[in-house]
Amino acid sequence: SRLALDGDTPAAAANPQQATAAMLHILFGTQTGNAESIAMDVAADARAKGMQPVVEALDDVDMIRLSAMKRAIIVTSTYGEGEMPDNAQLFWQALSAATAPRLETMHFAVLALGDTGYDGFCQSGKLIDTRLEQLGAKRIVNRVDCDVDYEDAAASWIGEVLPLAAAVDGGQAAPLLPDAMIAPAAREKSPWSRKSPYLSTVTVNRALSGASSAKEIRHFEFDLGDSGLEYEAGDALGVMPVNSPALVTAILSRLRADGDLPVQGLSRPLAVELANSFEISTPSRELITEIEQRAGNEELSHILRHGDKEALDAWLWGKDILDLLMLDTRMAMTAGEFVSLLKPLQHRAYSISSSPLAAGGSVHLTIASVRYRSNGREHGGVCSTYLSDRVAEGDKVGIFVSQNKAFRVPADNDAPMIMVGPGTGIAPFRAFLQERRMRGAAGRNWLFFGDQHRASDFIYEDELSQMSSDGVLTRLDLAFSRDQAEKVYVQSRMRENGKALYSWLEEGGHFYVCGDASRMAKDVDRALHDIVALHGGRTPEAASDYVNGLKREKRYLRDVY
Ligand code: 2AM
Repeated sequence: SRLALDGDTPAAAANPQQATAAMLHILFGTQTGNAESIAMDVAADARAKGMQPVVEALDDVDMIRLSAMKRAIIVTSTYGEGEMPDNAQLFWQALSAATAPRLETMHFAVLALGDTGYDGFCQSGKLIDTRLEQLGAKRIVNRVDCDVDYEDAAASWIGEVLPLAAAVDGGQAAPLLPDAMIAPAAREKSPWSRKSPYLSTVTVNRALSGASSAKEIRHFEFDLGDSGLEYEAGDALGVMPVNSPALVTAILSRLRADGDLPVQGLSRPLAVELANSFEISTPSRELITEIEQRAGNEELSHILRHGDKEALDAWLWGKDILDLLMLDTRMAMTAGEFVSLLKPLQHRAYSISSSPLAAGGSVHLTIASVRYRSNGREHGGVCSTYLSDRVAEGDKVGIFVSQNKAFRVPADNDAPMIMVGPGTGIAPFRAFLQERRMRGAAGRNWLFFGDQHRASDFIYEDELSQMSSDGVLTRLDLAFSRDQAEKVYVQSRMRENGKALYSWLEEGGHFYVCGDASRMAKDVDRALHDIVALHGGRTPEAASDYVNGLKREKRYLRDVY
């Protein structure tokens, strides 16, 4: 029994009940809140099994504390092309350094979250898993790498790892912990989830961007009715899309299949299943491979045999499943074969653009409709064009809240807040500004916003003007990139106002970024470092330490995608 394993220590004698509880550290690295939410599930289960769980973000753990841990479960996502989530970067810097401590007394297990649609699938989890082993820690169970539909895989992994973790002879009697460190008892869970979304009525679907814009950004409002769904400014909303009926028809016609007929293993007619159950735009790797084998397309064959992922991505750019089926119109594939090569249809998550304090019983989204022409056809983003083109006010849409507890307005209402959110990146900052106004928060607020043209792309202009005249928005700096000969971006505005920006940071400011991860967020990060170096009189290394300090204090937060 565990008593025999753990109990024979002085602490056990002093406090037998406490000492029998095996202490379990649950460390998470999260970008959008999924890994954190799993960590909380692990904690609830661990507590039910009589262990004493402690949940923390990876960045909150330094190497000294890490080396004292006997049992650690790590749940981490990967974002972008194989990058560590924001709240795991400092941890990884320290763990991967040559100075990292030996971890011979640690027993660990890693659950990795990722998306097979990106390069570096589950890369963060893989790196941490390998490095812990290198440092001498012992694996309790093998790492599991989860794709976007992670729930079942995560649940069975938790079921496997917990009894084994409990049985580890760590020789560590659980010390009395301050309450704040102990994981809260089973979190109140919303009944609405990815697997059982709430059917909400859409009350508003209107264009924000002007007719002359190169983009189409729309504002949506979803009624929460009596769902009991709760959210906070900073959370994301999961939306269940329905595929385009025109695309379903085109695929059926290409397969020469009858949409009214059932397909083996599926409960509804083929057309209904294609519309509601499968990703029919982005091809799975299995489908690409199968098509390559059947279609006589030398280019694709050459890339699959001799090219790398980059070459394949470049070739796939602008091509959807229908384009691939059209590569060779003589190629035959039965409906059953086709469906077996598809991935299940996933929800899309959007940063919520309202505060529940202001939006009373509804939740708002700010979404750019993805549309482009290629291979002689119009292509559309699965969920954005579903919402913009096929959901009318009054229609119902499946939604659920995806918590992002790390991305919040400052707890201190007096702290200054700097927000950088060009394009639809403004979404969570509209929520933050509403939140601060409703709280009567006295802290100053500074927004950097931009897009291509002021005339067509200055979304929420009226609201922002109102916020400015109300005094909620202390400063608003705009970067319309194509209204003059030279490109002007949000980071240009940051640099121009670097002195003031630095002094806001020095006065306890929180710095937020939302939007494009691959270019904008990187350039903004560079600008932030340069500003801290220039106006703080620091070397590049010292500026980098300063920015890391902001991250550690949760004063540099990003919602980037
Ligand atoms: P551009 O398309 O005119 O180059 C929202 O998409 C805004 O972000 C647009 O004004 C776009 O400008 C701009 N943008 C493009 N690349 C960027 C980058 N690397 N950093 C910041 N903004 C960028």
